[in-house]
Amino acid sequence: MSGVAPIRLGVLGVGRIGRMHAELVAHRIPGLALAAVFDVSDEAARSVAGALGVAAAPSAEELMHRDDVDAVAICTATDTHVDLLVAAATTGKPVFLEKPISLDLAELERGLAAADGAGLFVQIGLNRRFDPAHRSVRDAVATGEIGDVHLVRISSRDPSPPPLDYVRVSGGIFLDMTVHDFDMARYVTGSEVEEVYARGEVRVDPAIGEAGDLDTAVVVLRHESGALTTIDNSRRATYGYDQRVEAFGSKGMAASENPLAHTGLLRTADGTHETALPFFFLERYVPSYLAAWEAFERAVRSGEPSTVPGAEGRAALVMGLAAWRSVHEGRPVRTSEIG
Ligand SMILES: NC(=O)c1ccc[n+]([C@@H]2O[C@H](COP(=O)([O-])OP(=O)(O)OC[C@H]3O[C@@H](n4cnc5c(N)ncnc54)[C@H](O)[C@@H]3O)[C@@H](O)[C@H]2O)c1
Repeated sequence: MSGVAPIRLGVLGVGRIGRMHAELVAHRIPGLALAAVFDVSDEAARSVAGALGVAAAPSAEELMHRDDVDAVAICTATDTHVDLLVAAATTGKPVFLEKPISLDLAELERGLAAADGAGLFVQIGLNRRFDPAHRSVRDAVATGEIGDVHLVRISSRDPSPPPLDYVRVSGGIFLDMTVHDFDMARYVTGSEVEEVYARGEVRVDPAIGEAGDLDTAVVVLRHESGALTTIDNSRRATYGYDQRVEAFGSKGMAASENPLAHTGLLRTADGTHETALPFFFLERYVPSYLAAWEAFERAVRSGEPSTVPGAEGRAALVMGLAAWRSVHEGRPVRTSEIG
């Protein structure tokens, strides 16, 4: 990368995920640099700006229009994404936008229309596509190595539920959590989803139910290809962050297993003991976040289209909305019924 000026990024929202993106961009991607951050929480902004030696912008507008900001990352709370995307579209600067784009399809369309109208480059933060293990499953399907895909199985279980304040504004399990698995189902099979059947329960914490959400769910998807995907979700896996994908086809199967926090093991007369799974997404998925940033840099520099454009985020939201309707109406819901 020597001799080539880095693309300078401004990060909006430096909470859990924005702080991590700011750190990765500042230190781990040679072609990118961090220029400034903004957060409505002064404390969060000052803490990240101070730690990383960059400016804390006085507002989102100022950050987007700064001369030393070439591209913008929107990592704020979900309900602010569309307004910030629309504002970013007026600058023409490439945008990295965290998932989900919105919890509301009409709002999402408003944001994507503004971006498309401005010819804006947008990459959605559906990072699991960049995980090397999940990608190997997709590759085994795409190359035909496992033949015609019949079944996909996705287990996606968090180590512990998010705070209730987050649950209340998150759009619930299907829009906040399963949205990644909906994307994975389309990504692995390469086939659109035509029908969603979801069942959910509150098995972890009654307070999640009181907040109008579920913490345990199973979803069955029917793809246009005829393949079937099952997804199981829990907000609390006592043994760590459990993330597995399996594709089963006419010639074989391909699977991504969980990595371990480290490779040490203990053997005694009682058996063999391995260490725990990585705790959560910040421990498990850093390689995928790094690869997503590398893809962002490559595409922006070369002028190639985004590898994860807004349409991918739209498809995942439609499936999430279909899942909620399926639970409420107790029936399979076709994705064509949504929007
Ligand atoms: N891709 C992933 O793996 C992943 C993981 C976690 C969260 N997310 C997504 O990232 C987004 C943020 O999630 P989080 O867990 O970091 O939440 P968080 O609550 O920890 O952080 C959000 C931050 O945004 C700030 N903020 C809110 N409105 C703002 C505004 N208008 N302008 C500037 N700052 C604003 C808040 O003060 C907070 O610091 C959500 O959309 C979430 O779904 C994605």
